Amino acid sequence: MRFDIISIFPEMFEIIHAGGVVGRALEKHHFALQTWNPRAYTTDNRKTVDDRAYGGGPGMVMMAEPLEKTLTAIKQDQSKVGPVVLLSPHGRRFDQQMAINLLQHEQITLVCGRYEAVDQRFIERNVDLEISLGDFVLSGGEIPAMAMIDAMVRLIPGVLGDKDSAQQDSFMDGLLDCPHYTRPEIYENSVVPSVLLGGNHAIIEGWRREQSLLATQLRRPDLIEAARKKGLLSSKDELFLKSIQA
Ligand SMILES: C[S@@+](CC[C@H](N)C(=O)[O-])C[C@H]1O[C@@H](n2cnc3c(N)ncnc32)[C@H](O)[C@@H]1O
Repeated sequence: MRFDIISIFPEMFEIIHAGGVVGRALEKHHFALQTWNPRAYTTDNRKTVDDRAYGGGPGMVMMAEPLEKTLTAIKQDQSKVGPVVLLSPHGRRFDQQMAINLLQHEQITLVCGRYEAVDQRFIERNVDLEISLGDFVLSGGEIPAMAMIDAMVRLIPGVLGDKDSAQQDSFMDGLLDCPHYTRPEIYENSVVPSVLLGGNHAIIEGWRREQSLLATQLRRPDLIEAARKKGLLSSKDELFLKSIQA
């Protein structure tokens, strides 16, 4: 998987090299990342990438040409070019399923907007998909791009130490993850659930499944409904859900 990122603040992505799961994955070549600054594809001395909006109003608009020239440079550099994604509050809300689907591509270009907007003609001519991190407005697309990269990279086989770690994460089976505990066994008078200390893996798995169902029912009942529709709930799950509702 290769990410090509168009951003006027490429230095923001240096944080990825700092370490953690994603930094180590980059070091071990589980994925590749290249930043492209549209200022390098301008023709004036000031390397202008934005201008005032037609029709007036506050804020500047990112010009289509430097962005499009950057995209052309990416295409010339690559034999395989996948979807061009614009980070935007107008986009489809990013989620785990989208992370899984996007991983099918060998390459993705992420375009990070800045200022008030990106010229609509660049979007119409070049963007395959607009993705939003949520219903709020950030100053730029860099943080959403990094969030997407993080979510996707941890799904690449071999990136997480334990191959089952990602599978047990929230959303992977349609539910929220169960609660977890570590040492000490008693912390400030609060005790680890005894089932986790018994060593019976089948019973522990059963308890974890129930705790996942409970957390999801309490916090995200919409996910329970979606899991039901997708046939992800067993008759045992349904019995448990009935019992907690009662
Ligand atoms: C200040 S925002 C522009 C917001 C725009 N005027 C609007 O109201 O929709 C600048 C850039 O930040 C990025 N951005 C802001 N919020 C985002 C979000 N929730 N998800 C993804 N990208 C976002 C986009 O790339 C956007 O072009």
